[in-house]
Amino acid sequence: MPKGRVAQRFDLPRPLPAPGQTRQGAAYQALRDAILSGLLPAGSALPSSRGLAERWQLARGTLEEVFDRLRLEGYIERRVGAGSRVRAVLPEFYHRAPPPPAPRALAEPLAAVPAAGRPRVGVPFAARLANPQLLAPAVWGRHLQRAMAGLRPEQLGEAEAQGALALREQVAAYLRSQRGIPCQADELIITHGIRHGLDLVARCLLRPGDGVAVEDPGYPVARRIFQQAGARVQHARVDEQGLDPASLGAGLRLAYVTPAHQSPLGASLPAERRLGLLAWAEREQAWVLEDDYDSQFNYRSAPLPALKAIDRGERVIYCGSFNQALFANLRVGYLLAPRPVREQVLGLWQVVGRSVGISEQLGLAAFMASGDYQRHLRRARLHYQGLRDTLLAELASAAPGCRVSGEHAGFHLTLWLPAGCDEARLLARGQAAGLDLYPLSQACHGTRLPPALILGYAALAPAQVRQAARVLVGLLAG
Ligand SMILES: Cc1ncc(COP(=O)(O)O)c(C=O)c1O
Repeated sequence: MPKGRVAQRFDLPRPLPAPGQTRQGAAYQALRDAILSGLLPAGSALPSSRGLAERWQLARGTLEEVFDRLRLEGYIERRVGAGSRVRAVLPEFYHRAPPPPAPRALAEPLAAVPAAGRPRVGVPFAARLANPQLLAPAVWGRHLQRAMAGLRPEQLGEAEAQGALALREQVAAYLRSQRGIPCQADELIITHGIRHGLDLVARCLLRPGDGVAVEDPGYPVARRIFQQAGARVQHARVDEQGLDPASLGAGLRLAYVTPAHQSPLGASLPAERRLGLLAWAEREQAWVLEDDYDSQFNYRSAPLPALKAIDRGERVIYCGSFNQALFANLRVGYLLAPRPVREQVLGLWQVVGRSVGISEQLGLAAFMASGDYQRHLRRARLHYQGLRDTLLAELASAAPGCRVSGEHAGFHLTLWLPAGCDEARLLARGQAAGLDLYPLSQACHGTRLPPALILGYAALAPAQVRQAARVLVGLLAG
């Protein structure tokens, strides 16, 4: 609007504060918006602060502060005896500018998971959570302190792109001895955990529209990560043995799988299916993304080696984590990827520079080198097994009609509900009784399964497991 044009009338309605806004804030916003929208062009006179205060039913001092702020920000000028005038001259484009384009739509908009839906330590039956109390803070603190004391100054200033060598060496030794993977430290990248690993891989390997197979039922977060990358998510069949490679279609770029302990049903993928999966990847020149989230906790026997251990064709990308073995907020994990993937991930890493802090990395390396990590795993395994046994015993004695599966490993088991059970009613009654119940249906996308609950027990005290199981059994009986 050309300079000098003066608004004929000044008749703005009384500004109403938005929730959380002060009356002064609302008055400021009303005047600034009137200037920016051209309603008050450059040169136009504002009413006196006294007059406007009366019209807007505000204290004059409040209006004075608003005028002063507008003056300081350059929107108006104030001269003694001449009143206040609009000073800002809006460039022409400001009026002509088209509305900003809508942000590019994602394949499927992602909603935030409400806090109420997230598992909480100490609330039965929180699934997917370790018990943070099993690691004595003093022990962890000692290793952190020792690591910090031995730090070289250059380690404080320069990050190693793949993560601290001392930690990668410890992880490589662990993967060789415990997961049967013949790997070296220079093949590993330290991440913030499995989800970080999945996200890095998705961002490096997937283009919008690429096909990705995920287990159904499966880990919902993995599905969301691939959708976020714009992938076309397909559901792979899961039965009591785990993912069925025969259900993987052609033309896919990647298949995500939890072979050690299918999430959430709990099967360990038998050797024949593992080989079938590798053969599919070879044939399709696709990637297999192995999520080895809780293989440390096997109660029946030693776990099978990782799928990555038999990956002759270099098609498997392996993600592991300390967040389940130690505590969820540690945020340290690792990614073992064939060279082409590793190079892409490192390229991305160099741009975004997102890595775990050096003190955590070196503290963990010291923790592992001392043998304390193995001792912690042994103790935690026995502890979780005790909790699992308590839960199984309560369910067996009081809910004989209910079948359980996936109980041989991990932090949770699946409780199949009696036929005809009204799942929604059970969840509501559970909530009223202080139980966070996770229905299996939350992990199902295309598939329909009989009603079941995922019962987590690891993040509970023994008495809580017993008490909560009794409450649940009571709900099932009524
Ligand atoms: C199957 C599965 N993968 C990955 C994760 C998350 O791992 P992280 O916390 O290391 O990202 C979970 C969490 O419980 C999980 O259940």
